[in-house]
Amino acid sequence: MSIESSNDPQGFVSFEHSGWEAVSRGYEQHFTGLTSQSVAAVLDAAEVKSGKQVLDVCCGPGIITAAATARGAQTTGIDFSAAVVEIANSNVPDAEFHEADAQSLPYADNSFDAVVCGFGIIHVPDPQKALSEMHRVLKPAGRVAVSVWESPNSNNGFGLLYGSLKANADMDVDLPHGPDFFQFSDPAKLTNALMEIGFSEPSINIVAQTWEFKEAQGLFTSIMEGAVRARALIAAQAATVQEAISDAVVAGMDEYVSPDGMYRVPMPALIGSAVK
Ligand SMILES: C[S@@+](CC[C@H](N)C(=O)[O-])C[C@H]1O[C@@H](n2cnc3c(N)ncnc32)[C@H](O)[C@@H]1O
Repeated sequence: MSIESSNDPQGFVSFEHSGWEAVSRGYEQHFTGLTSQSVAAVLDAAEVKSGKQVLDVCCGPGIITAAATARGAQTTGIDFSAAVVEIANSNVPDAEFHEADAQSLPYADNSFDAVVCGFGIIHVPDPQKALSEMHRVLKPAGRVAVSVWESPNSNNGFGLLYGSLKANADMDVDLPHGPDFFQFSDPAKLTNALMEIGFSEPSINIVAQTWEFKEAQGLFTSIMEGAVRARALIAAQAATVQEAISDAVVAGMDEYVSPDGMYRVPMPALIGSAVK
């Protein structure tokens, strides 16, 4: 298998779990305006429509669950964080939510017409297991759709963030090993991953998303209040280094300022979809 997994799965899952418990509200506040821009494309790729039974894996505050429910689908969301499930329940009272690990879904084989996962597989210690679980709970001919971030480059927000990190930070701080956050960020790699699991007819769609901020500090603040891995990497640096990273990100935001004074940062998503 070419899908990378954590070499410290227990340590990494605990780290991610406590991270998401801590940033559940911050993620909702800073990220969902961005990730909601690819929700319709995820649902279209999974052919979610009225009457379908849909599972939203790593549902977060429930933005995909809400949109699937609005399409008339019977939707269930799972997330391993109790704090996140509480938010999802209050955001989408018409859907059902359960606290569960994406690597061990509490559903019988062949249960759902569609399984969707927005920016979730990049957070689990063993993404191959999570994708295999999605395959297992899908009915034959059911569809999966997963979204991931584009690789860091000179024209996206992760390029600015990780460029600033690499220029200033110690990247080898002592954090539990997690799989490469961008291992599915190449269309060929995402296609291969879906095929390796046993899915057929893989297809990749790239969706332009834009992160908007009123202030140049906005991106750095959003990471520190709403992300898990990048936040932990920054928090593990000395105070002067954290300041240097923040300054570098703020300086790089100049490239994204619009005439109206708003900062608009490209944050494209790749959506991989396939059939069981
Ligand atoms: C980046 S958020 C995505 C939320 C939402 N799907 C969206 O598109 O905005 C990732 C979510 O995955 C959840 N998560 C991370 N690892 C998980 C795991 N092993 N099992 C279940 N949920 C997990 C986190 O609690 C978090 O809510």
